[in-house]
Amino acid sequence: MIFGKVVRPSAMSLRWAFRYGSWNPTEEEWLKACASVQLEECHRVSQFCYKRDAKASLVGRLLLRKAVSSLLGIPYKEIIFNRTAAGKPFLMNSGVPAGFSVNISHQGSFTVLAAEIDRQVGIDTMDIARPANTSIQYFFRLMSSKFTESEWEYIRNGSSISPQRECALPNSPADCTEQEQLGRFYRMWCLKESFIKADGKGLQISLQRMSFTPVEPGLSPSENMLSVGTVLHFDGALSSSWQFHEGYLDDTHLVCVCIGPEVTAANPLSSSPTSSMTNCFTHFTVEQLLDSVEEIHPKDRKWWNEFEPREEVPRGQSAPT
Ligand SMILES: CC(C)(COP(=O)(O)OP(=O)(O)OC[C@H]1O[C@@H](n2cnc3c(N)ncnc32)[C@H](O)[C@@H]1OP(=O)(O)O)[C@@H](O)C(=O)NCCC(=O)NCCS
Repeated sequence: MIFGKVVRPSAMSLRWAFRYGSWNPTEEEWLKACASVQLEECHRVSQFCYKRDAKASLVGRLLLRKAVSSLLGIPYKEIIFNRTAAGKPFLMNSGVPAGFSVNISHQGSFTVLAAEIDRQVGIDTMDIARPANTSIQYFFRLMSSKFTESEWEYIRNGSSISPQRECALPNSPADCTEQEQLGRFYRMWCLKESFIKADGKGLQISLQRMSFTPVEPGLSPSENMLSVGTVLHFDGALSSSWQFHEGYLDDTHLVCVCIGPEVTAANPLSSSPTSSMTNCFTHFTVEQLLDSVEEIHPKDRKWWNEFEPREEVPRGQSAPT
């Protein structure tokens, strides 16, 4: 296994994370953040019932604009995002490279972003939390249609057989703990979601058409690196042009980035990864995030007046940290 090898130039791609769970915004911070995103997104954020969701989404908007400014050099005030009918944000500006793609995900305590200059990208993060008010086995039964037979084999036993029955991964001990099963369940979840999000059409794709086979049976939270190598079969055929970079943001948050085939072949540096690991995420502090974004419209105290009285999370749930 090769550690520490950056397989693509950093100017070609971004991997960013922000822990919104531990952010308790001051009025000044909240107003600056709202003033730095498009007005329709301020309206959207102000409609969330809970602070947790408003913070997660607003941070996503800040990261999107920062990514466009960093990778493409478009001035903040000129960056215009719209959404597809399926809800995926995309850049409206003219002259954007055909392959440019950016995507965010927010769940648990983190908002994450992945951007690529020359290929489709999708990202998903999940907190490996036990399901509330139900057993893990009942939860799995409820979710049975989400995964293929071979994916369930991997989730339950830590072993996996490729959809073409060509190879079997090494078996892990038969007495896998439920916590390990949950970790593998969310690993599969992140893989599927990242692919769905790179594609952009949402859940229009049947989840049974895609089947993932991990090459590395287990991911470890202790490695500050992303594992490369999980294989996708789509409609039974190997989809070797899609790559999946998986890892942990902290002890409980999984993340997966799905990267599509190259859209333009012009840049010889933008080759596919050859190592089994790639560089991990850059984590921002509040100061780093807010100091680096630019206000695009005047601050309006109503954004704070709407946000401040809200509860952090629904009653009975614990707040993210
Ligand atoms: C909407 C969907 C694309 C992602 O939903 P999600 O996993 O709950 O949300 P995430 O936090 O990962 O991502 C949300 C962000 O993705 C972006 N997004 C929205 N629609 C998108 C789409 N069709 N394609 C890609 N990105 C999309 C947005 O930026 C959104 O954040 P914002 O609304 O605050 O701007 C879709 O996959 C979905 O509805 N999933 C439901 C869960 C499910 O059954 N998954 C099966 C997995 S096995």
